[in-house]
Amino acid sequence: MKNDKHEQKQYFLHGGDYNPEQWRETPEILHEDLQLMQKAKCNTFSVGIFSWSALEPKEGEYDFSFLDETIANLASIGAKVNLSTPSAAMPYWMAAKYPEIMKVNVDGVRKKFGGRQNFCPTSPVYRKKVREINKKLSERYGRNENVLLWHISNEYYGEPCYCPLCKAKFREYLKKKYGTVERLNHEYWTAFWSHTYSSFEEVEPNGIAGVQLDWRRFTSENYRDFMREEIAAVRRYSDKKVTTNMVTAIYEMDYCKFAGDLDIISFDNYPAWHSPEHLHEAAASAFWHDFFRSLKNAPYLLMESSPGLENWKKYNKLKENGMDKLASMQAVAHGSDGVLYFQWRKSRGDSEKFHGAVVDHVGNDNTRIFRTVQNTGETLEKIAEIAGTNTKRAEVAILFDWENMWAFERSQFAGRKNYRGDVIEAYKFFWNNAIPCDIRNPHDDLSGYKLVVAVDLYMVGETVENNLTEYVKSGGALYAKCFLGMVNENDLCHPRGFPAGKLKEVFGIWNEELDTLYPGDMRKLSANGKEYAITAYEEHIHARGATVLGQYSDGMFSCEPCFTENSYGEGKAYYQAFADDGEFEKDAFERICDALGIKSVCGGVKEKTFGITAHMRTDGKTEYLFIENYTDEASGEIALEIPHEDMETGEIVTSVNLPRYGVRILKTKVKG
Ligand code: GLA
Ligand code: ZN
Repeated sequence: MKNDKHEQKQYFLHGGDYNPEQWRETPEILHEDLQLMQKAKCNTFSVGIFSWSALEPKEGEYDFSFLDETIANLASIGAKVNLSTPSAAMPYWMAAKYPEIMKVNVDGVRKKFGGRQNFCPTSPVYRKKVREINKKLSERYGRNENVLLWHISNEYYGEPCYCPLCKAKFREYLKKKYGTVERLNHEYWTAFWSHTYSSFEEVEPNGIAGVQLDWRRFTSENYRDFMREEIAAVRRYSDKKVTTNMVTAIYEMDYCKFAGDLDIISFDNYPAWHSPEHLHEAAASAFWHDFFRSLKNAPYLLMESSPGLENWKKYNKLKENGMDKLASMQAVAHGSDGVLYFQWRKSRGDSEKFHGAVVDHVGNDNTRIFRTVQNTGETLEKIAEIAGTNTKRAEVAILFDWENMWAFERSQFAGRKNYRGDVIEAYKFFWNNAIPCDIRNPHDDLSGYKLVVAVDLYMVGETVENNLTEYVKSGGALYAKCFLGMVNENDLCHPRGFPAGKLKEVFGIWNEELDTLYPGDMRKLSANGKEYAITAYEEHIHARGATVLGQYSDGMFSCEPCFTENSYGEGKAYYQAFADDGEFEKDAFERICDALGIKSVCGGVKEKTFGITAHMRTDGKTEYLFIENYTDEASGEIALEIPHEDMETGEIVTSVNLPRYGVRILKTKVKG
């Protein structure tokens, strides 16, 4: 990242959450921190995240001394600050004096003081208090050259608040959206089970499917609105960049909509390394890195990661030697301009006292984890020229849509629905073959991609229908897997057959019915002279112009189509009507990628087992290749097409052999 106008040198951010307010009684610890930070090659710290009671100990009485000192201390070692707004945890006096700022649960019970992320996002009082403190911070630090970024709040989770104010605001949202209650009744299909409303005031958030979907949309939007108000307040006296730390896999927040309000995307990542699902976790983690990078198609920040274990999982595994550095380099390989940890130093008390940190309770640099972090810091310095470059341009886009997830997962048919899991299953082929991928929303402009993959895209409104149609018409290849276009944006089934409207023509099929298999049941299909196993669903589709490339080979749909290809306009549309164990998809994607000339950034990893992969960043002149081994075996020889320079050792190499959990970072000049 080129961090500000004074400093044009590129470098990676390295550091993390720092809570000096917990150590004010022991200045010697704060002093030691500064020594250790330099040793660990850390240069950036997120401060102020949970500091409200230190900053405003009594209503209207501010005390910025600890922040003044912290920023000055960090500046003395050349470190910068991501300055957080404190809205994620309010002080006690505020909750006591204004109980209405606390969140209300679905049963109408208002939370009591304690914990965090427990405020009502609508509360005018809370919003005012947040604006006030944010403006104070902006006024005091908004032009401070040692402040790098605004870190807005901490992990907006999106858990809904059911207080009267939130409900009233929701009803206003519905009025604006539907205009009349008759329209709303139609869109929600309220004649079902006698749900017909006679006024907007009657609408409760936990009713029928349409309401629930809108309630989710509204809640996510309400947090976004809250965030925008926070941003406006810090911008009052400051033009520093803003970010908020988002979280992987969060169900409630439609992050696709947040990107436009932020200057830099950042997120927190805690994969279950070394779990029985270790390699799946590696791919899932890669998916989320690609997801967050794709939000702006630009370098982003890994804002939190644990340098040791997490202490909130059922099984809290330490990272084995090499794993922490590999996880950090995974972020960099996918486009992160920093590696930041939660947390710098373990707190002595409360729920996170055993959570991984750079500095352990022993308080010195003589720990395994400290040395790992130090080593990552050294590597980040050696590869500093990569900061600011983007990832190699992707020719493949995988679609991901929160609204679809909400509608699909709550729809009452076909059990075993796992939207995030299914999308990640499809992503695995590209990940493992080192084929760059973007993760896009179905509403986004898709032109420019050679291949777009739509998994479980159950909800297809008119805009998405047109977008996908146009994409194929003008030459794109679209691969859809199961459930395509069954309902519109309000979860109403599309009349006249699935998939929605024109998509029947685009794919040249009609999808008549769907069968769900019991766990352990297995069906078969044949395609390209090979048999494959079906493990979860099969759809009964009919070719209406499409070429049949695969057929069910047993069960009641035996000999009927299950995989089709159709030419439409300049492009092609493929439909996979079943969920398999991954084998079929692997072969199908391979053939399509070959046909479309979609290339791996490192052919050598294609021969290897699942879990050995590569990624590339480039500025157009130099290509930076990251080769990663997530497996617990050495990789064996991975051949490179041309010689590369190893950026850590300076060696020129024509192949690499990675140890378990190993990573190599190589570079080469782009020819021509
Ligand atoms: C989240 C929070 C942090 C901390 C970590 C622990 O990401 O933002 O404050 O609680 O989890 O893993
Ligand atoms: Zn509320």
